[in-house]
Amino acid sequence: MAVPVAAAQKIQLSVDVSKAGAKIDRNLFGQFAEHLGHGVYEGIWVGPDSKIPNTRGIRNDVVAALKALKVPDVRWPGGCFADEYHWRKGIGQQRTVTLNPNWGGVIEPNTFGTHEFMDFLDQIGAEAYLSVNVGSGTPQEAAEWLEYLTTVQPTTLAKERAANGHPAPYKVAFLGIGNESWDCGGNMTPDYYLSQLKTYSRFVRNFNPAQQNNQQMLKIAVGPGGGDSRWTEWTEAIMKAYQSHTWSWDMNGLSLHSYTVVKWPPSYASVGFGEAEYAQILKSTLEMNDLIAKHSAIMDKYDPQKKVALVVDEWGGWYAPLPGSNPGFLAQQNSLRDAVLAALNLNIFARHADRVRMANIAQMINVLQAMILTDKEKMVLTPTYYVYKMYVPFQDATFVPATFDAGTFTHDGITLPRIDAIAAKDKAGKLWLAITNVDPNQSAEIEVTLAGMNAKSAAGETLSASKVDSVNTFDAPNTVVPKPFSAKAQDGKLTLKLEPKSVTAIAVEQ
Ligand code: AHR
Repeated sequence: MAVPVAAAQKIQLSVDVSKAGAKIDRNLFGQFAEHLGHGVYEGIWVGPDSKIPNTRGIRNDVVAALKALKVPDVRWPGGCFADEYHWRKGIGQQRTVTLNPNWGGVIEPNTFGTHEFMDFLDQIGAEAYLSVNVGSGTPQEAAEWLEYLTTVQPTTLAKERAANGHPAPYKVAFLGIGNESWDCGGNMTPDYYLSQLKTYSRFVRNFNPAQQNNQQMLKIAVGPGGGDSRWTEWTEAIMKAYQSHTWSWDMNGLSLHSYTVVKWPPSYASVGFGEAEYAQILKSTLEMNDLIAKHSAIMDKYDPQKKVALVVDEWGGWYAPLPGSNPGFLAQQNSLRDAVLAALNLNIFARHADRVRMANIAQMINVLQAMILTDKEKMVLTPTYYVYKMYVPFQDATFVPATFDAGTFTHDGITLPRIDAIAAKDKAGKLWLAITNVDPNQSAEIEVTLAGMNAKSAAGETLSASKVDSVNTFDAPNTVVPKPFSAKAQDGKLTLKLEPKSVTAIAVEQ
């Protein structure tokens, strides 16, 4: 039974507009597209001969949907896949057909390779986050990939790139050096990984003339995958080495992987669940805050100036595979619960924006907590997609501290905060609020006091639905879609009435 605790009480939310926090880096809204299930093949790539409308093989409907999210960067080609990926198999007229042993053992045709990925990024307007193969590759292979991609001088590799259709060098904004090297990426000890990191960091160079000074490619080291001692020791080891690093190697980010799963193997249903599972999953997702705080504290010890970003480049809800799907394809539905989960995590990242400057939800299309689901020519946008759309104004906005007493509600012995909220000023100076009403049954009345501004009204969108497991399907794509939301201010204060289990983003007008 849900027990409403003081649900009738108004929640006071205070925002002091004169105070500014860290920049909420746009890269916190990054995506992850691995060669896994129908994430790349069918989700992005249908091939130029497909009847599905496409541009050079890349689905037009998916591109249009992603453009609206202003996706800052896409991590590719994995995940575990990256540590078995050999880039030369994915360039040129003749592609080598291989296997994808991590994800169902299916055929990997390599038809979506380097040029197709860069074309996809160009079409959606995002930057490249390449994950290079440390597990089964060599520094030389990775170095040659970067030379192929970025050299302007007429080296043999640059000429090969030009012959394959791209004379100009590509921009590679981010370089991931390995993936989960403590596990699927080669089961390395911290010391062994460190020696790899130093070598790759030194020799995998970006030659693009436009990326030599303040546009330099940022190098991201493998970081922890949880909060227990195995992971804190990993963070300690990498950051300690970073503290005494010499001119010959560097790193700009440390990755963190954390899925909301409650327990492995993933067993929670992604649809057809009730409020108990809603509460359990959300309680588990809120652990992200302490996990970030724990690793940030270690990083602060060795890097008090916060030069190294914590990059949460795999996160999201990971549930049981959909009945009848290939379990290696990690196919799941995406419900209103995922919308709330996404908002809670984005808010956590924003609160830690001084250290967390990049995050990539897993994964973009048809895999895990996806933005988009496709089935042949059909496409549907998920509740998570809409949260990302509503949060676009928060990209590169300045965090503004908001204080509130969230209150609590309890369901089946699980106590959660009733609401969560963040505030930020966008680049034009406009104040935005994002408020989540976590309670699945009670609406929340919130009185917003805005020091330093004479608020007149607020307008934006709200996302909710009738059930915690409401989903969008190909037949009913508009079950969970945002609706307009507005409020008038009285005496400079806004009173907002938020639906149960809802995410709301509004701009304040003065
Ligand atoms: O996102 C699915 C997998 O989860 C990734 O390939 C791996 O890095 C992680 O374990």
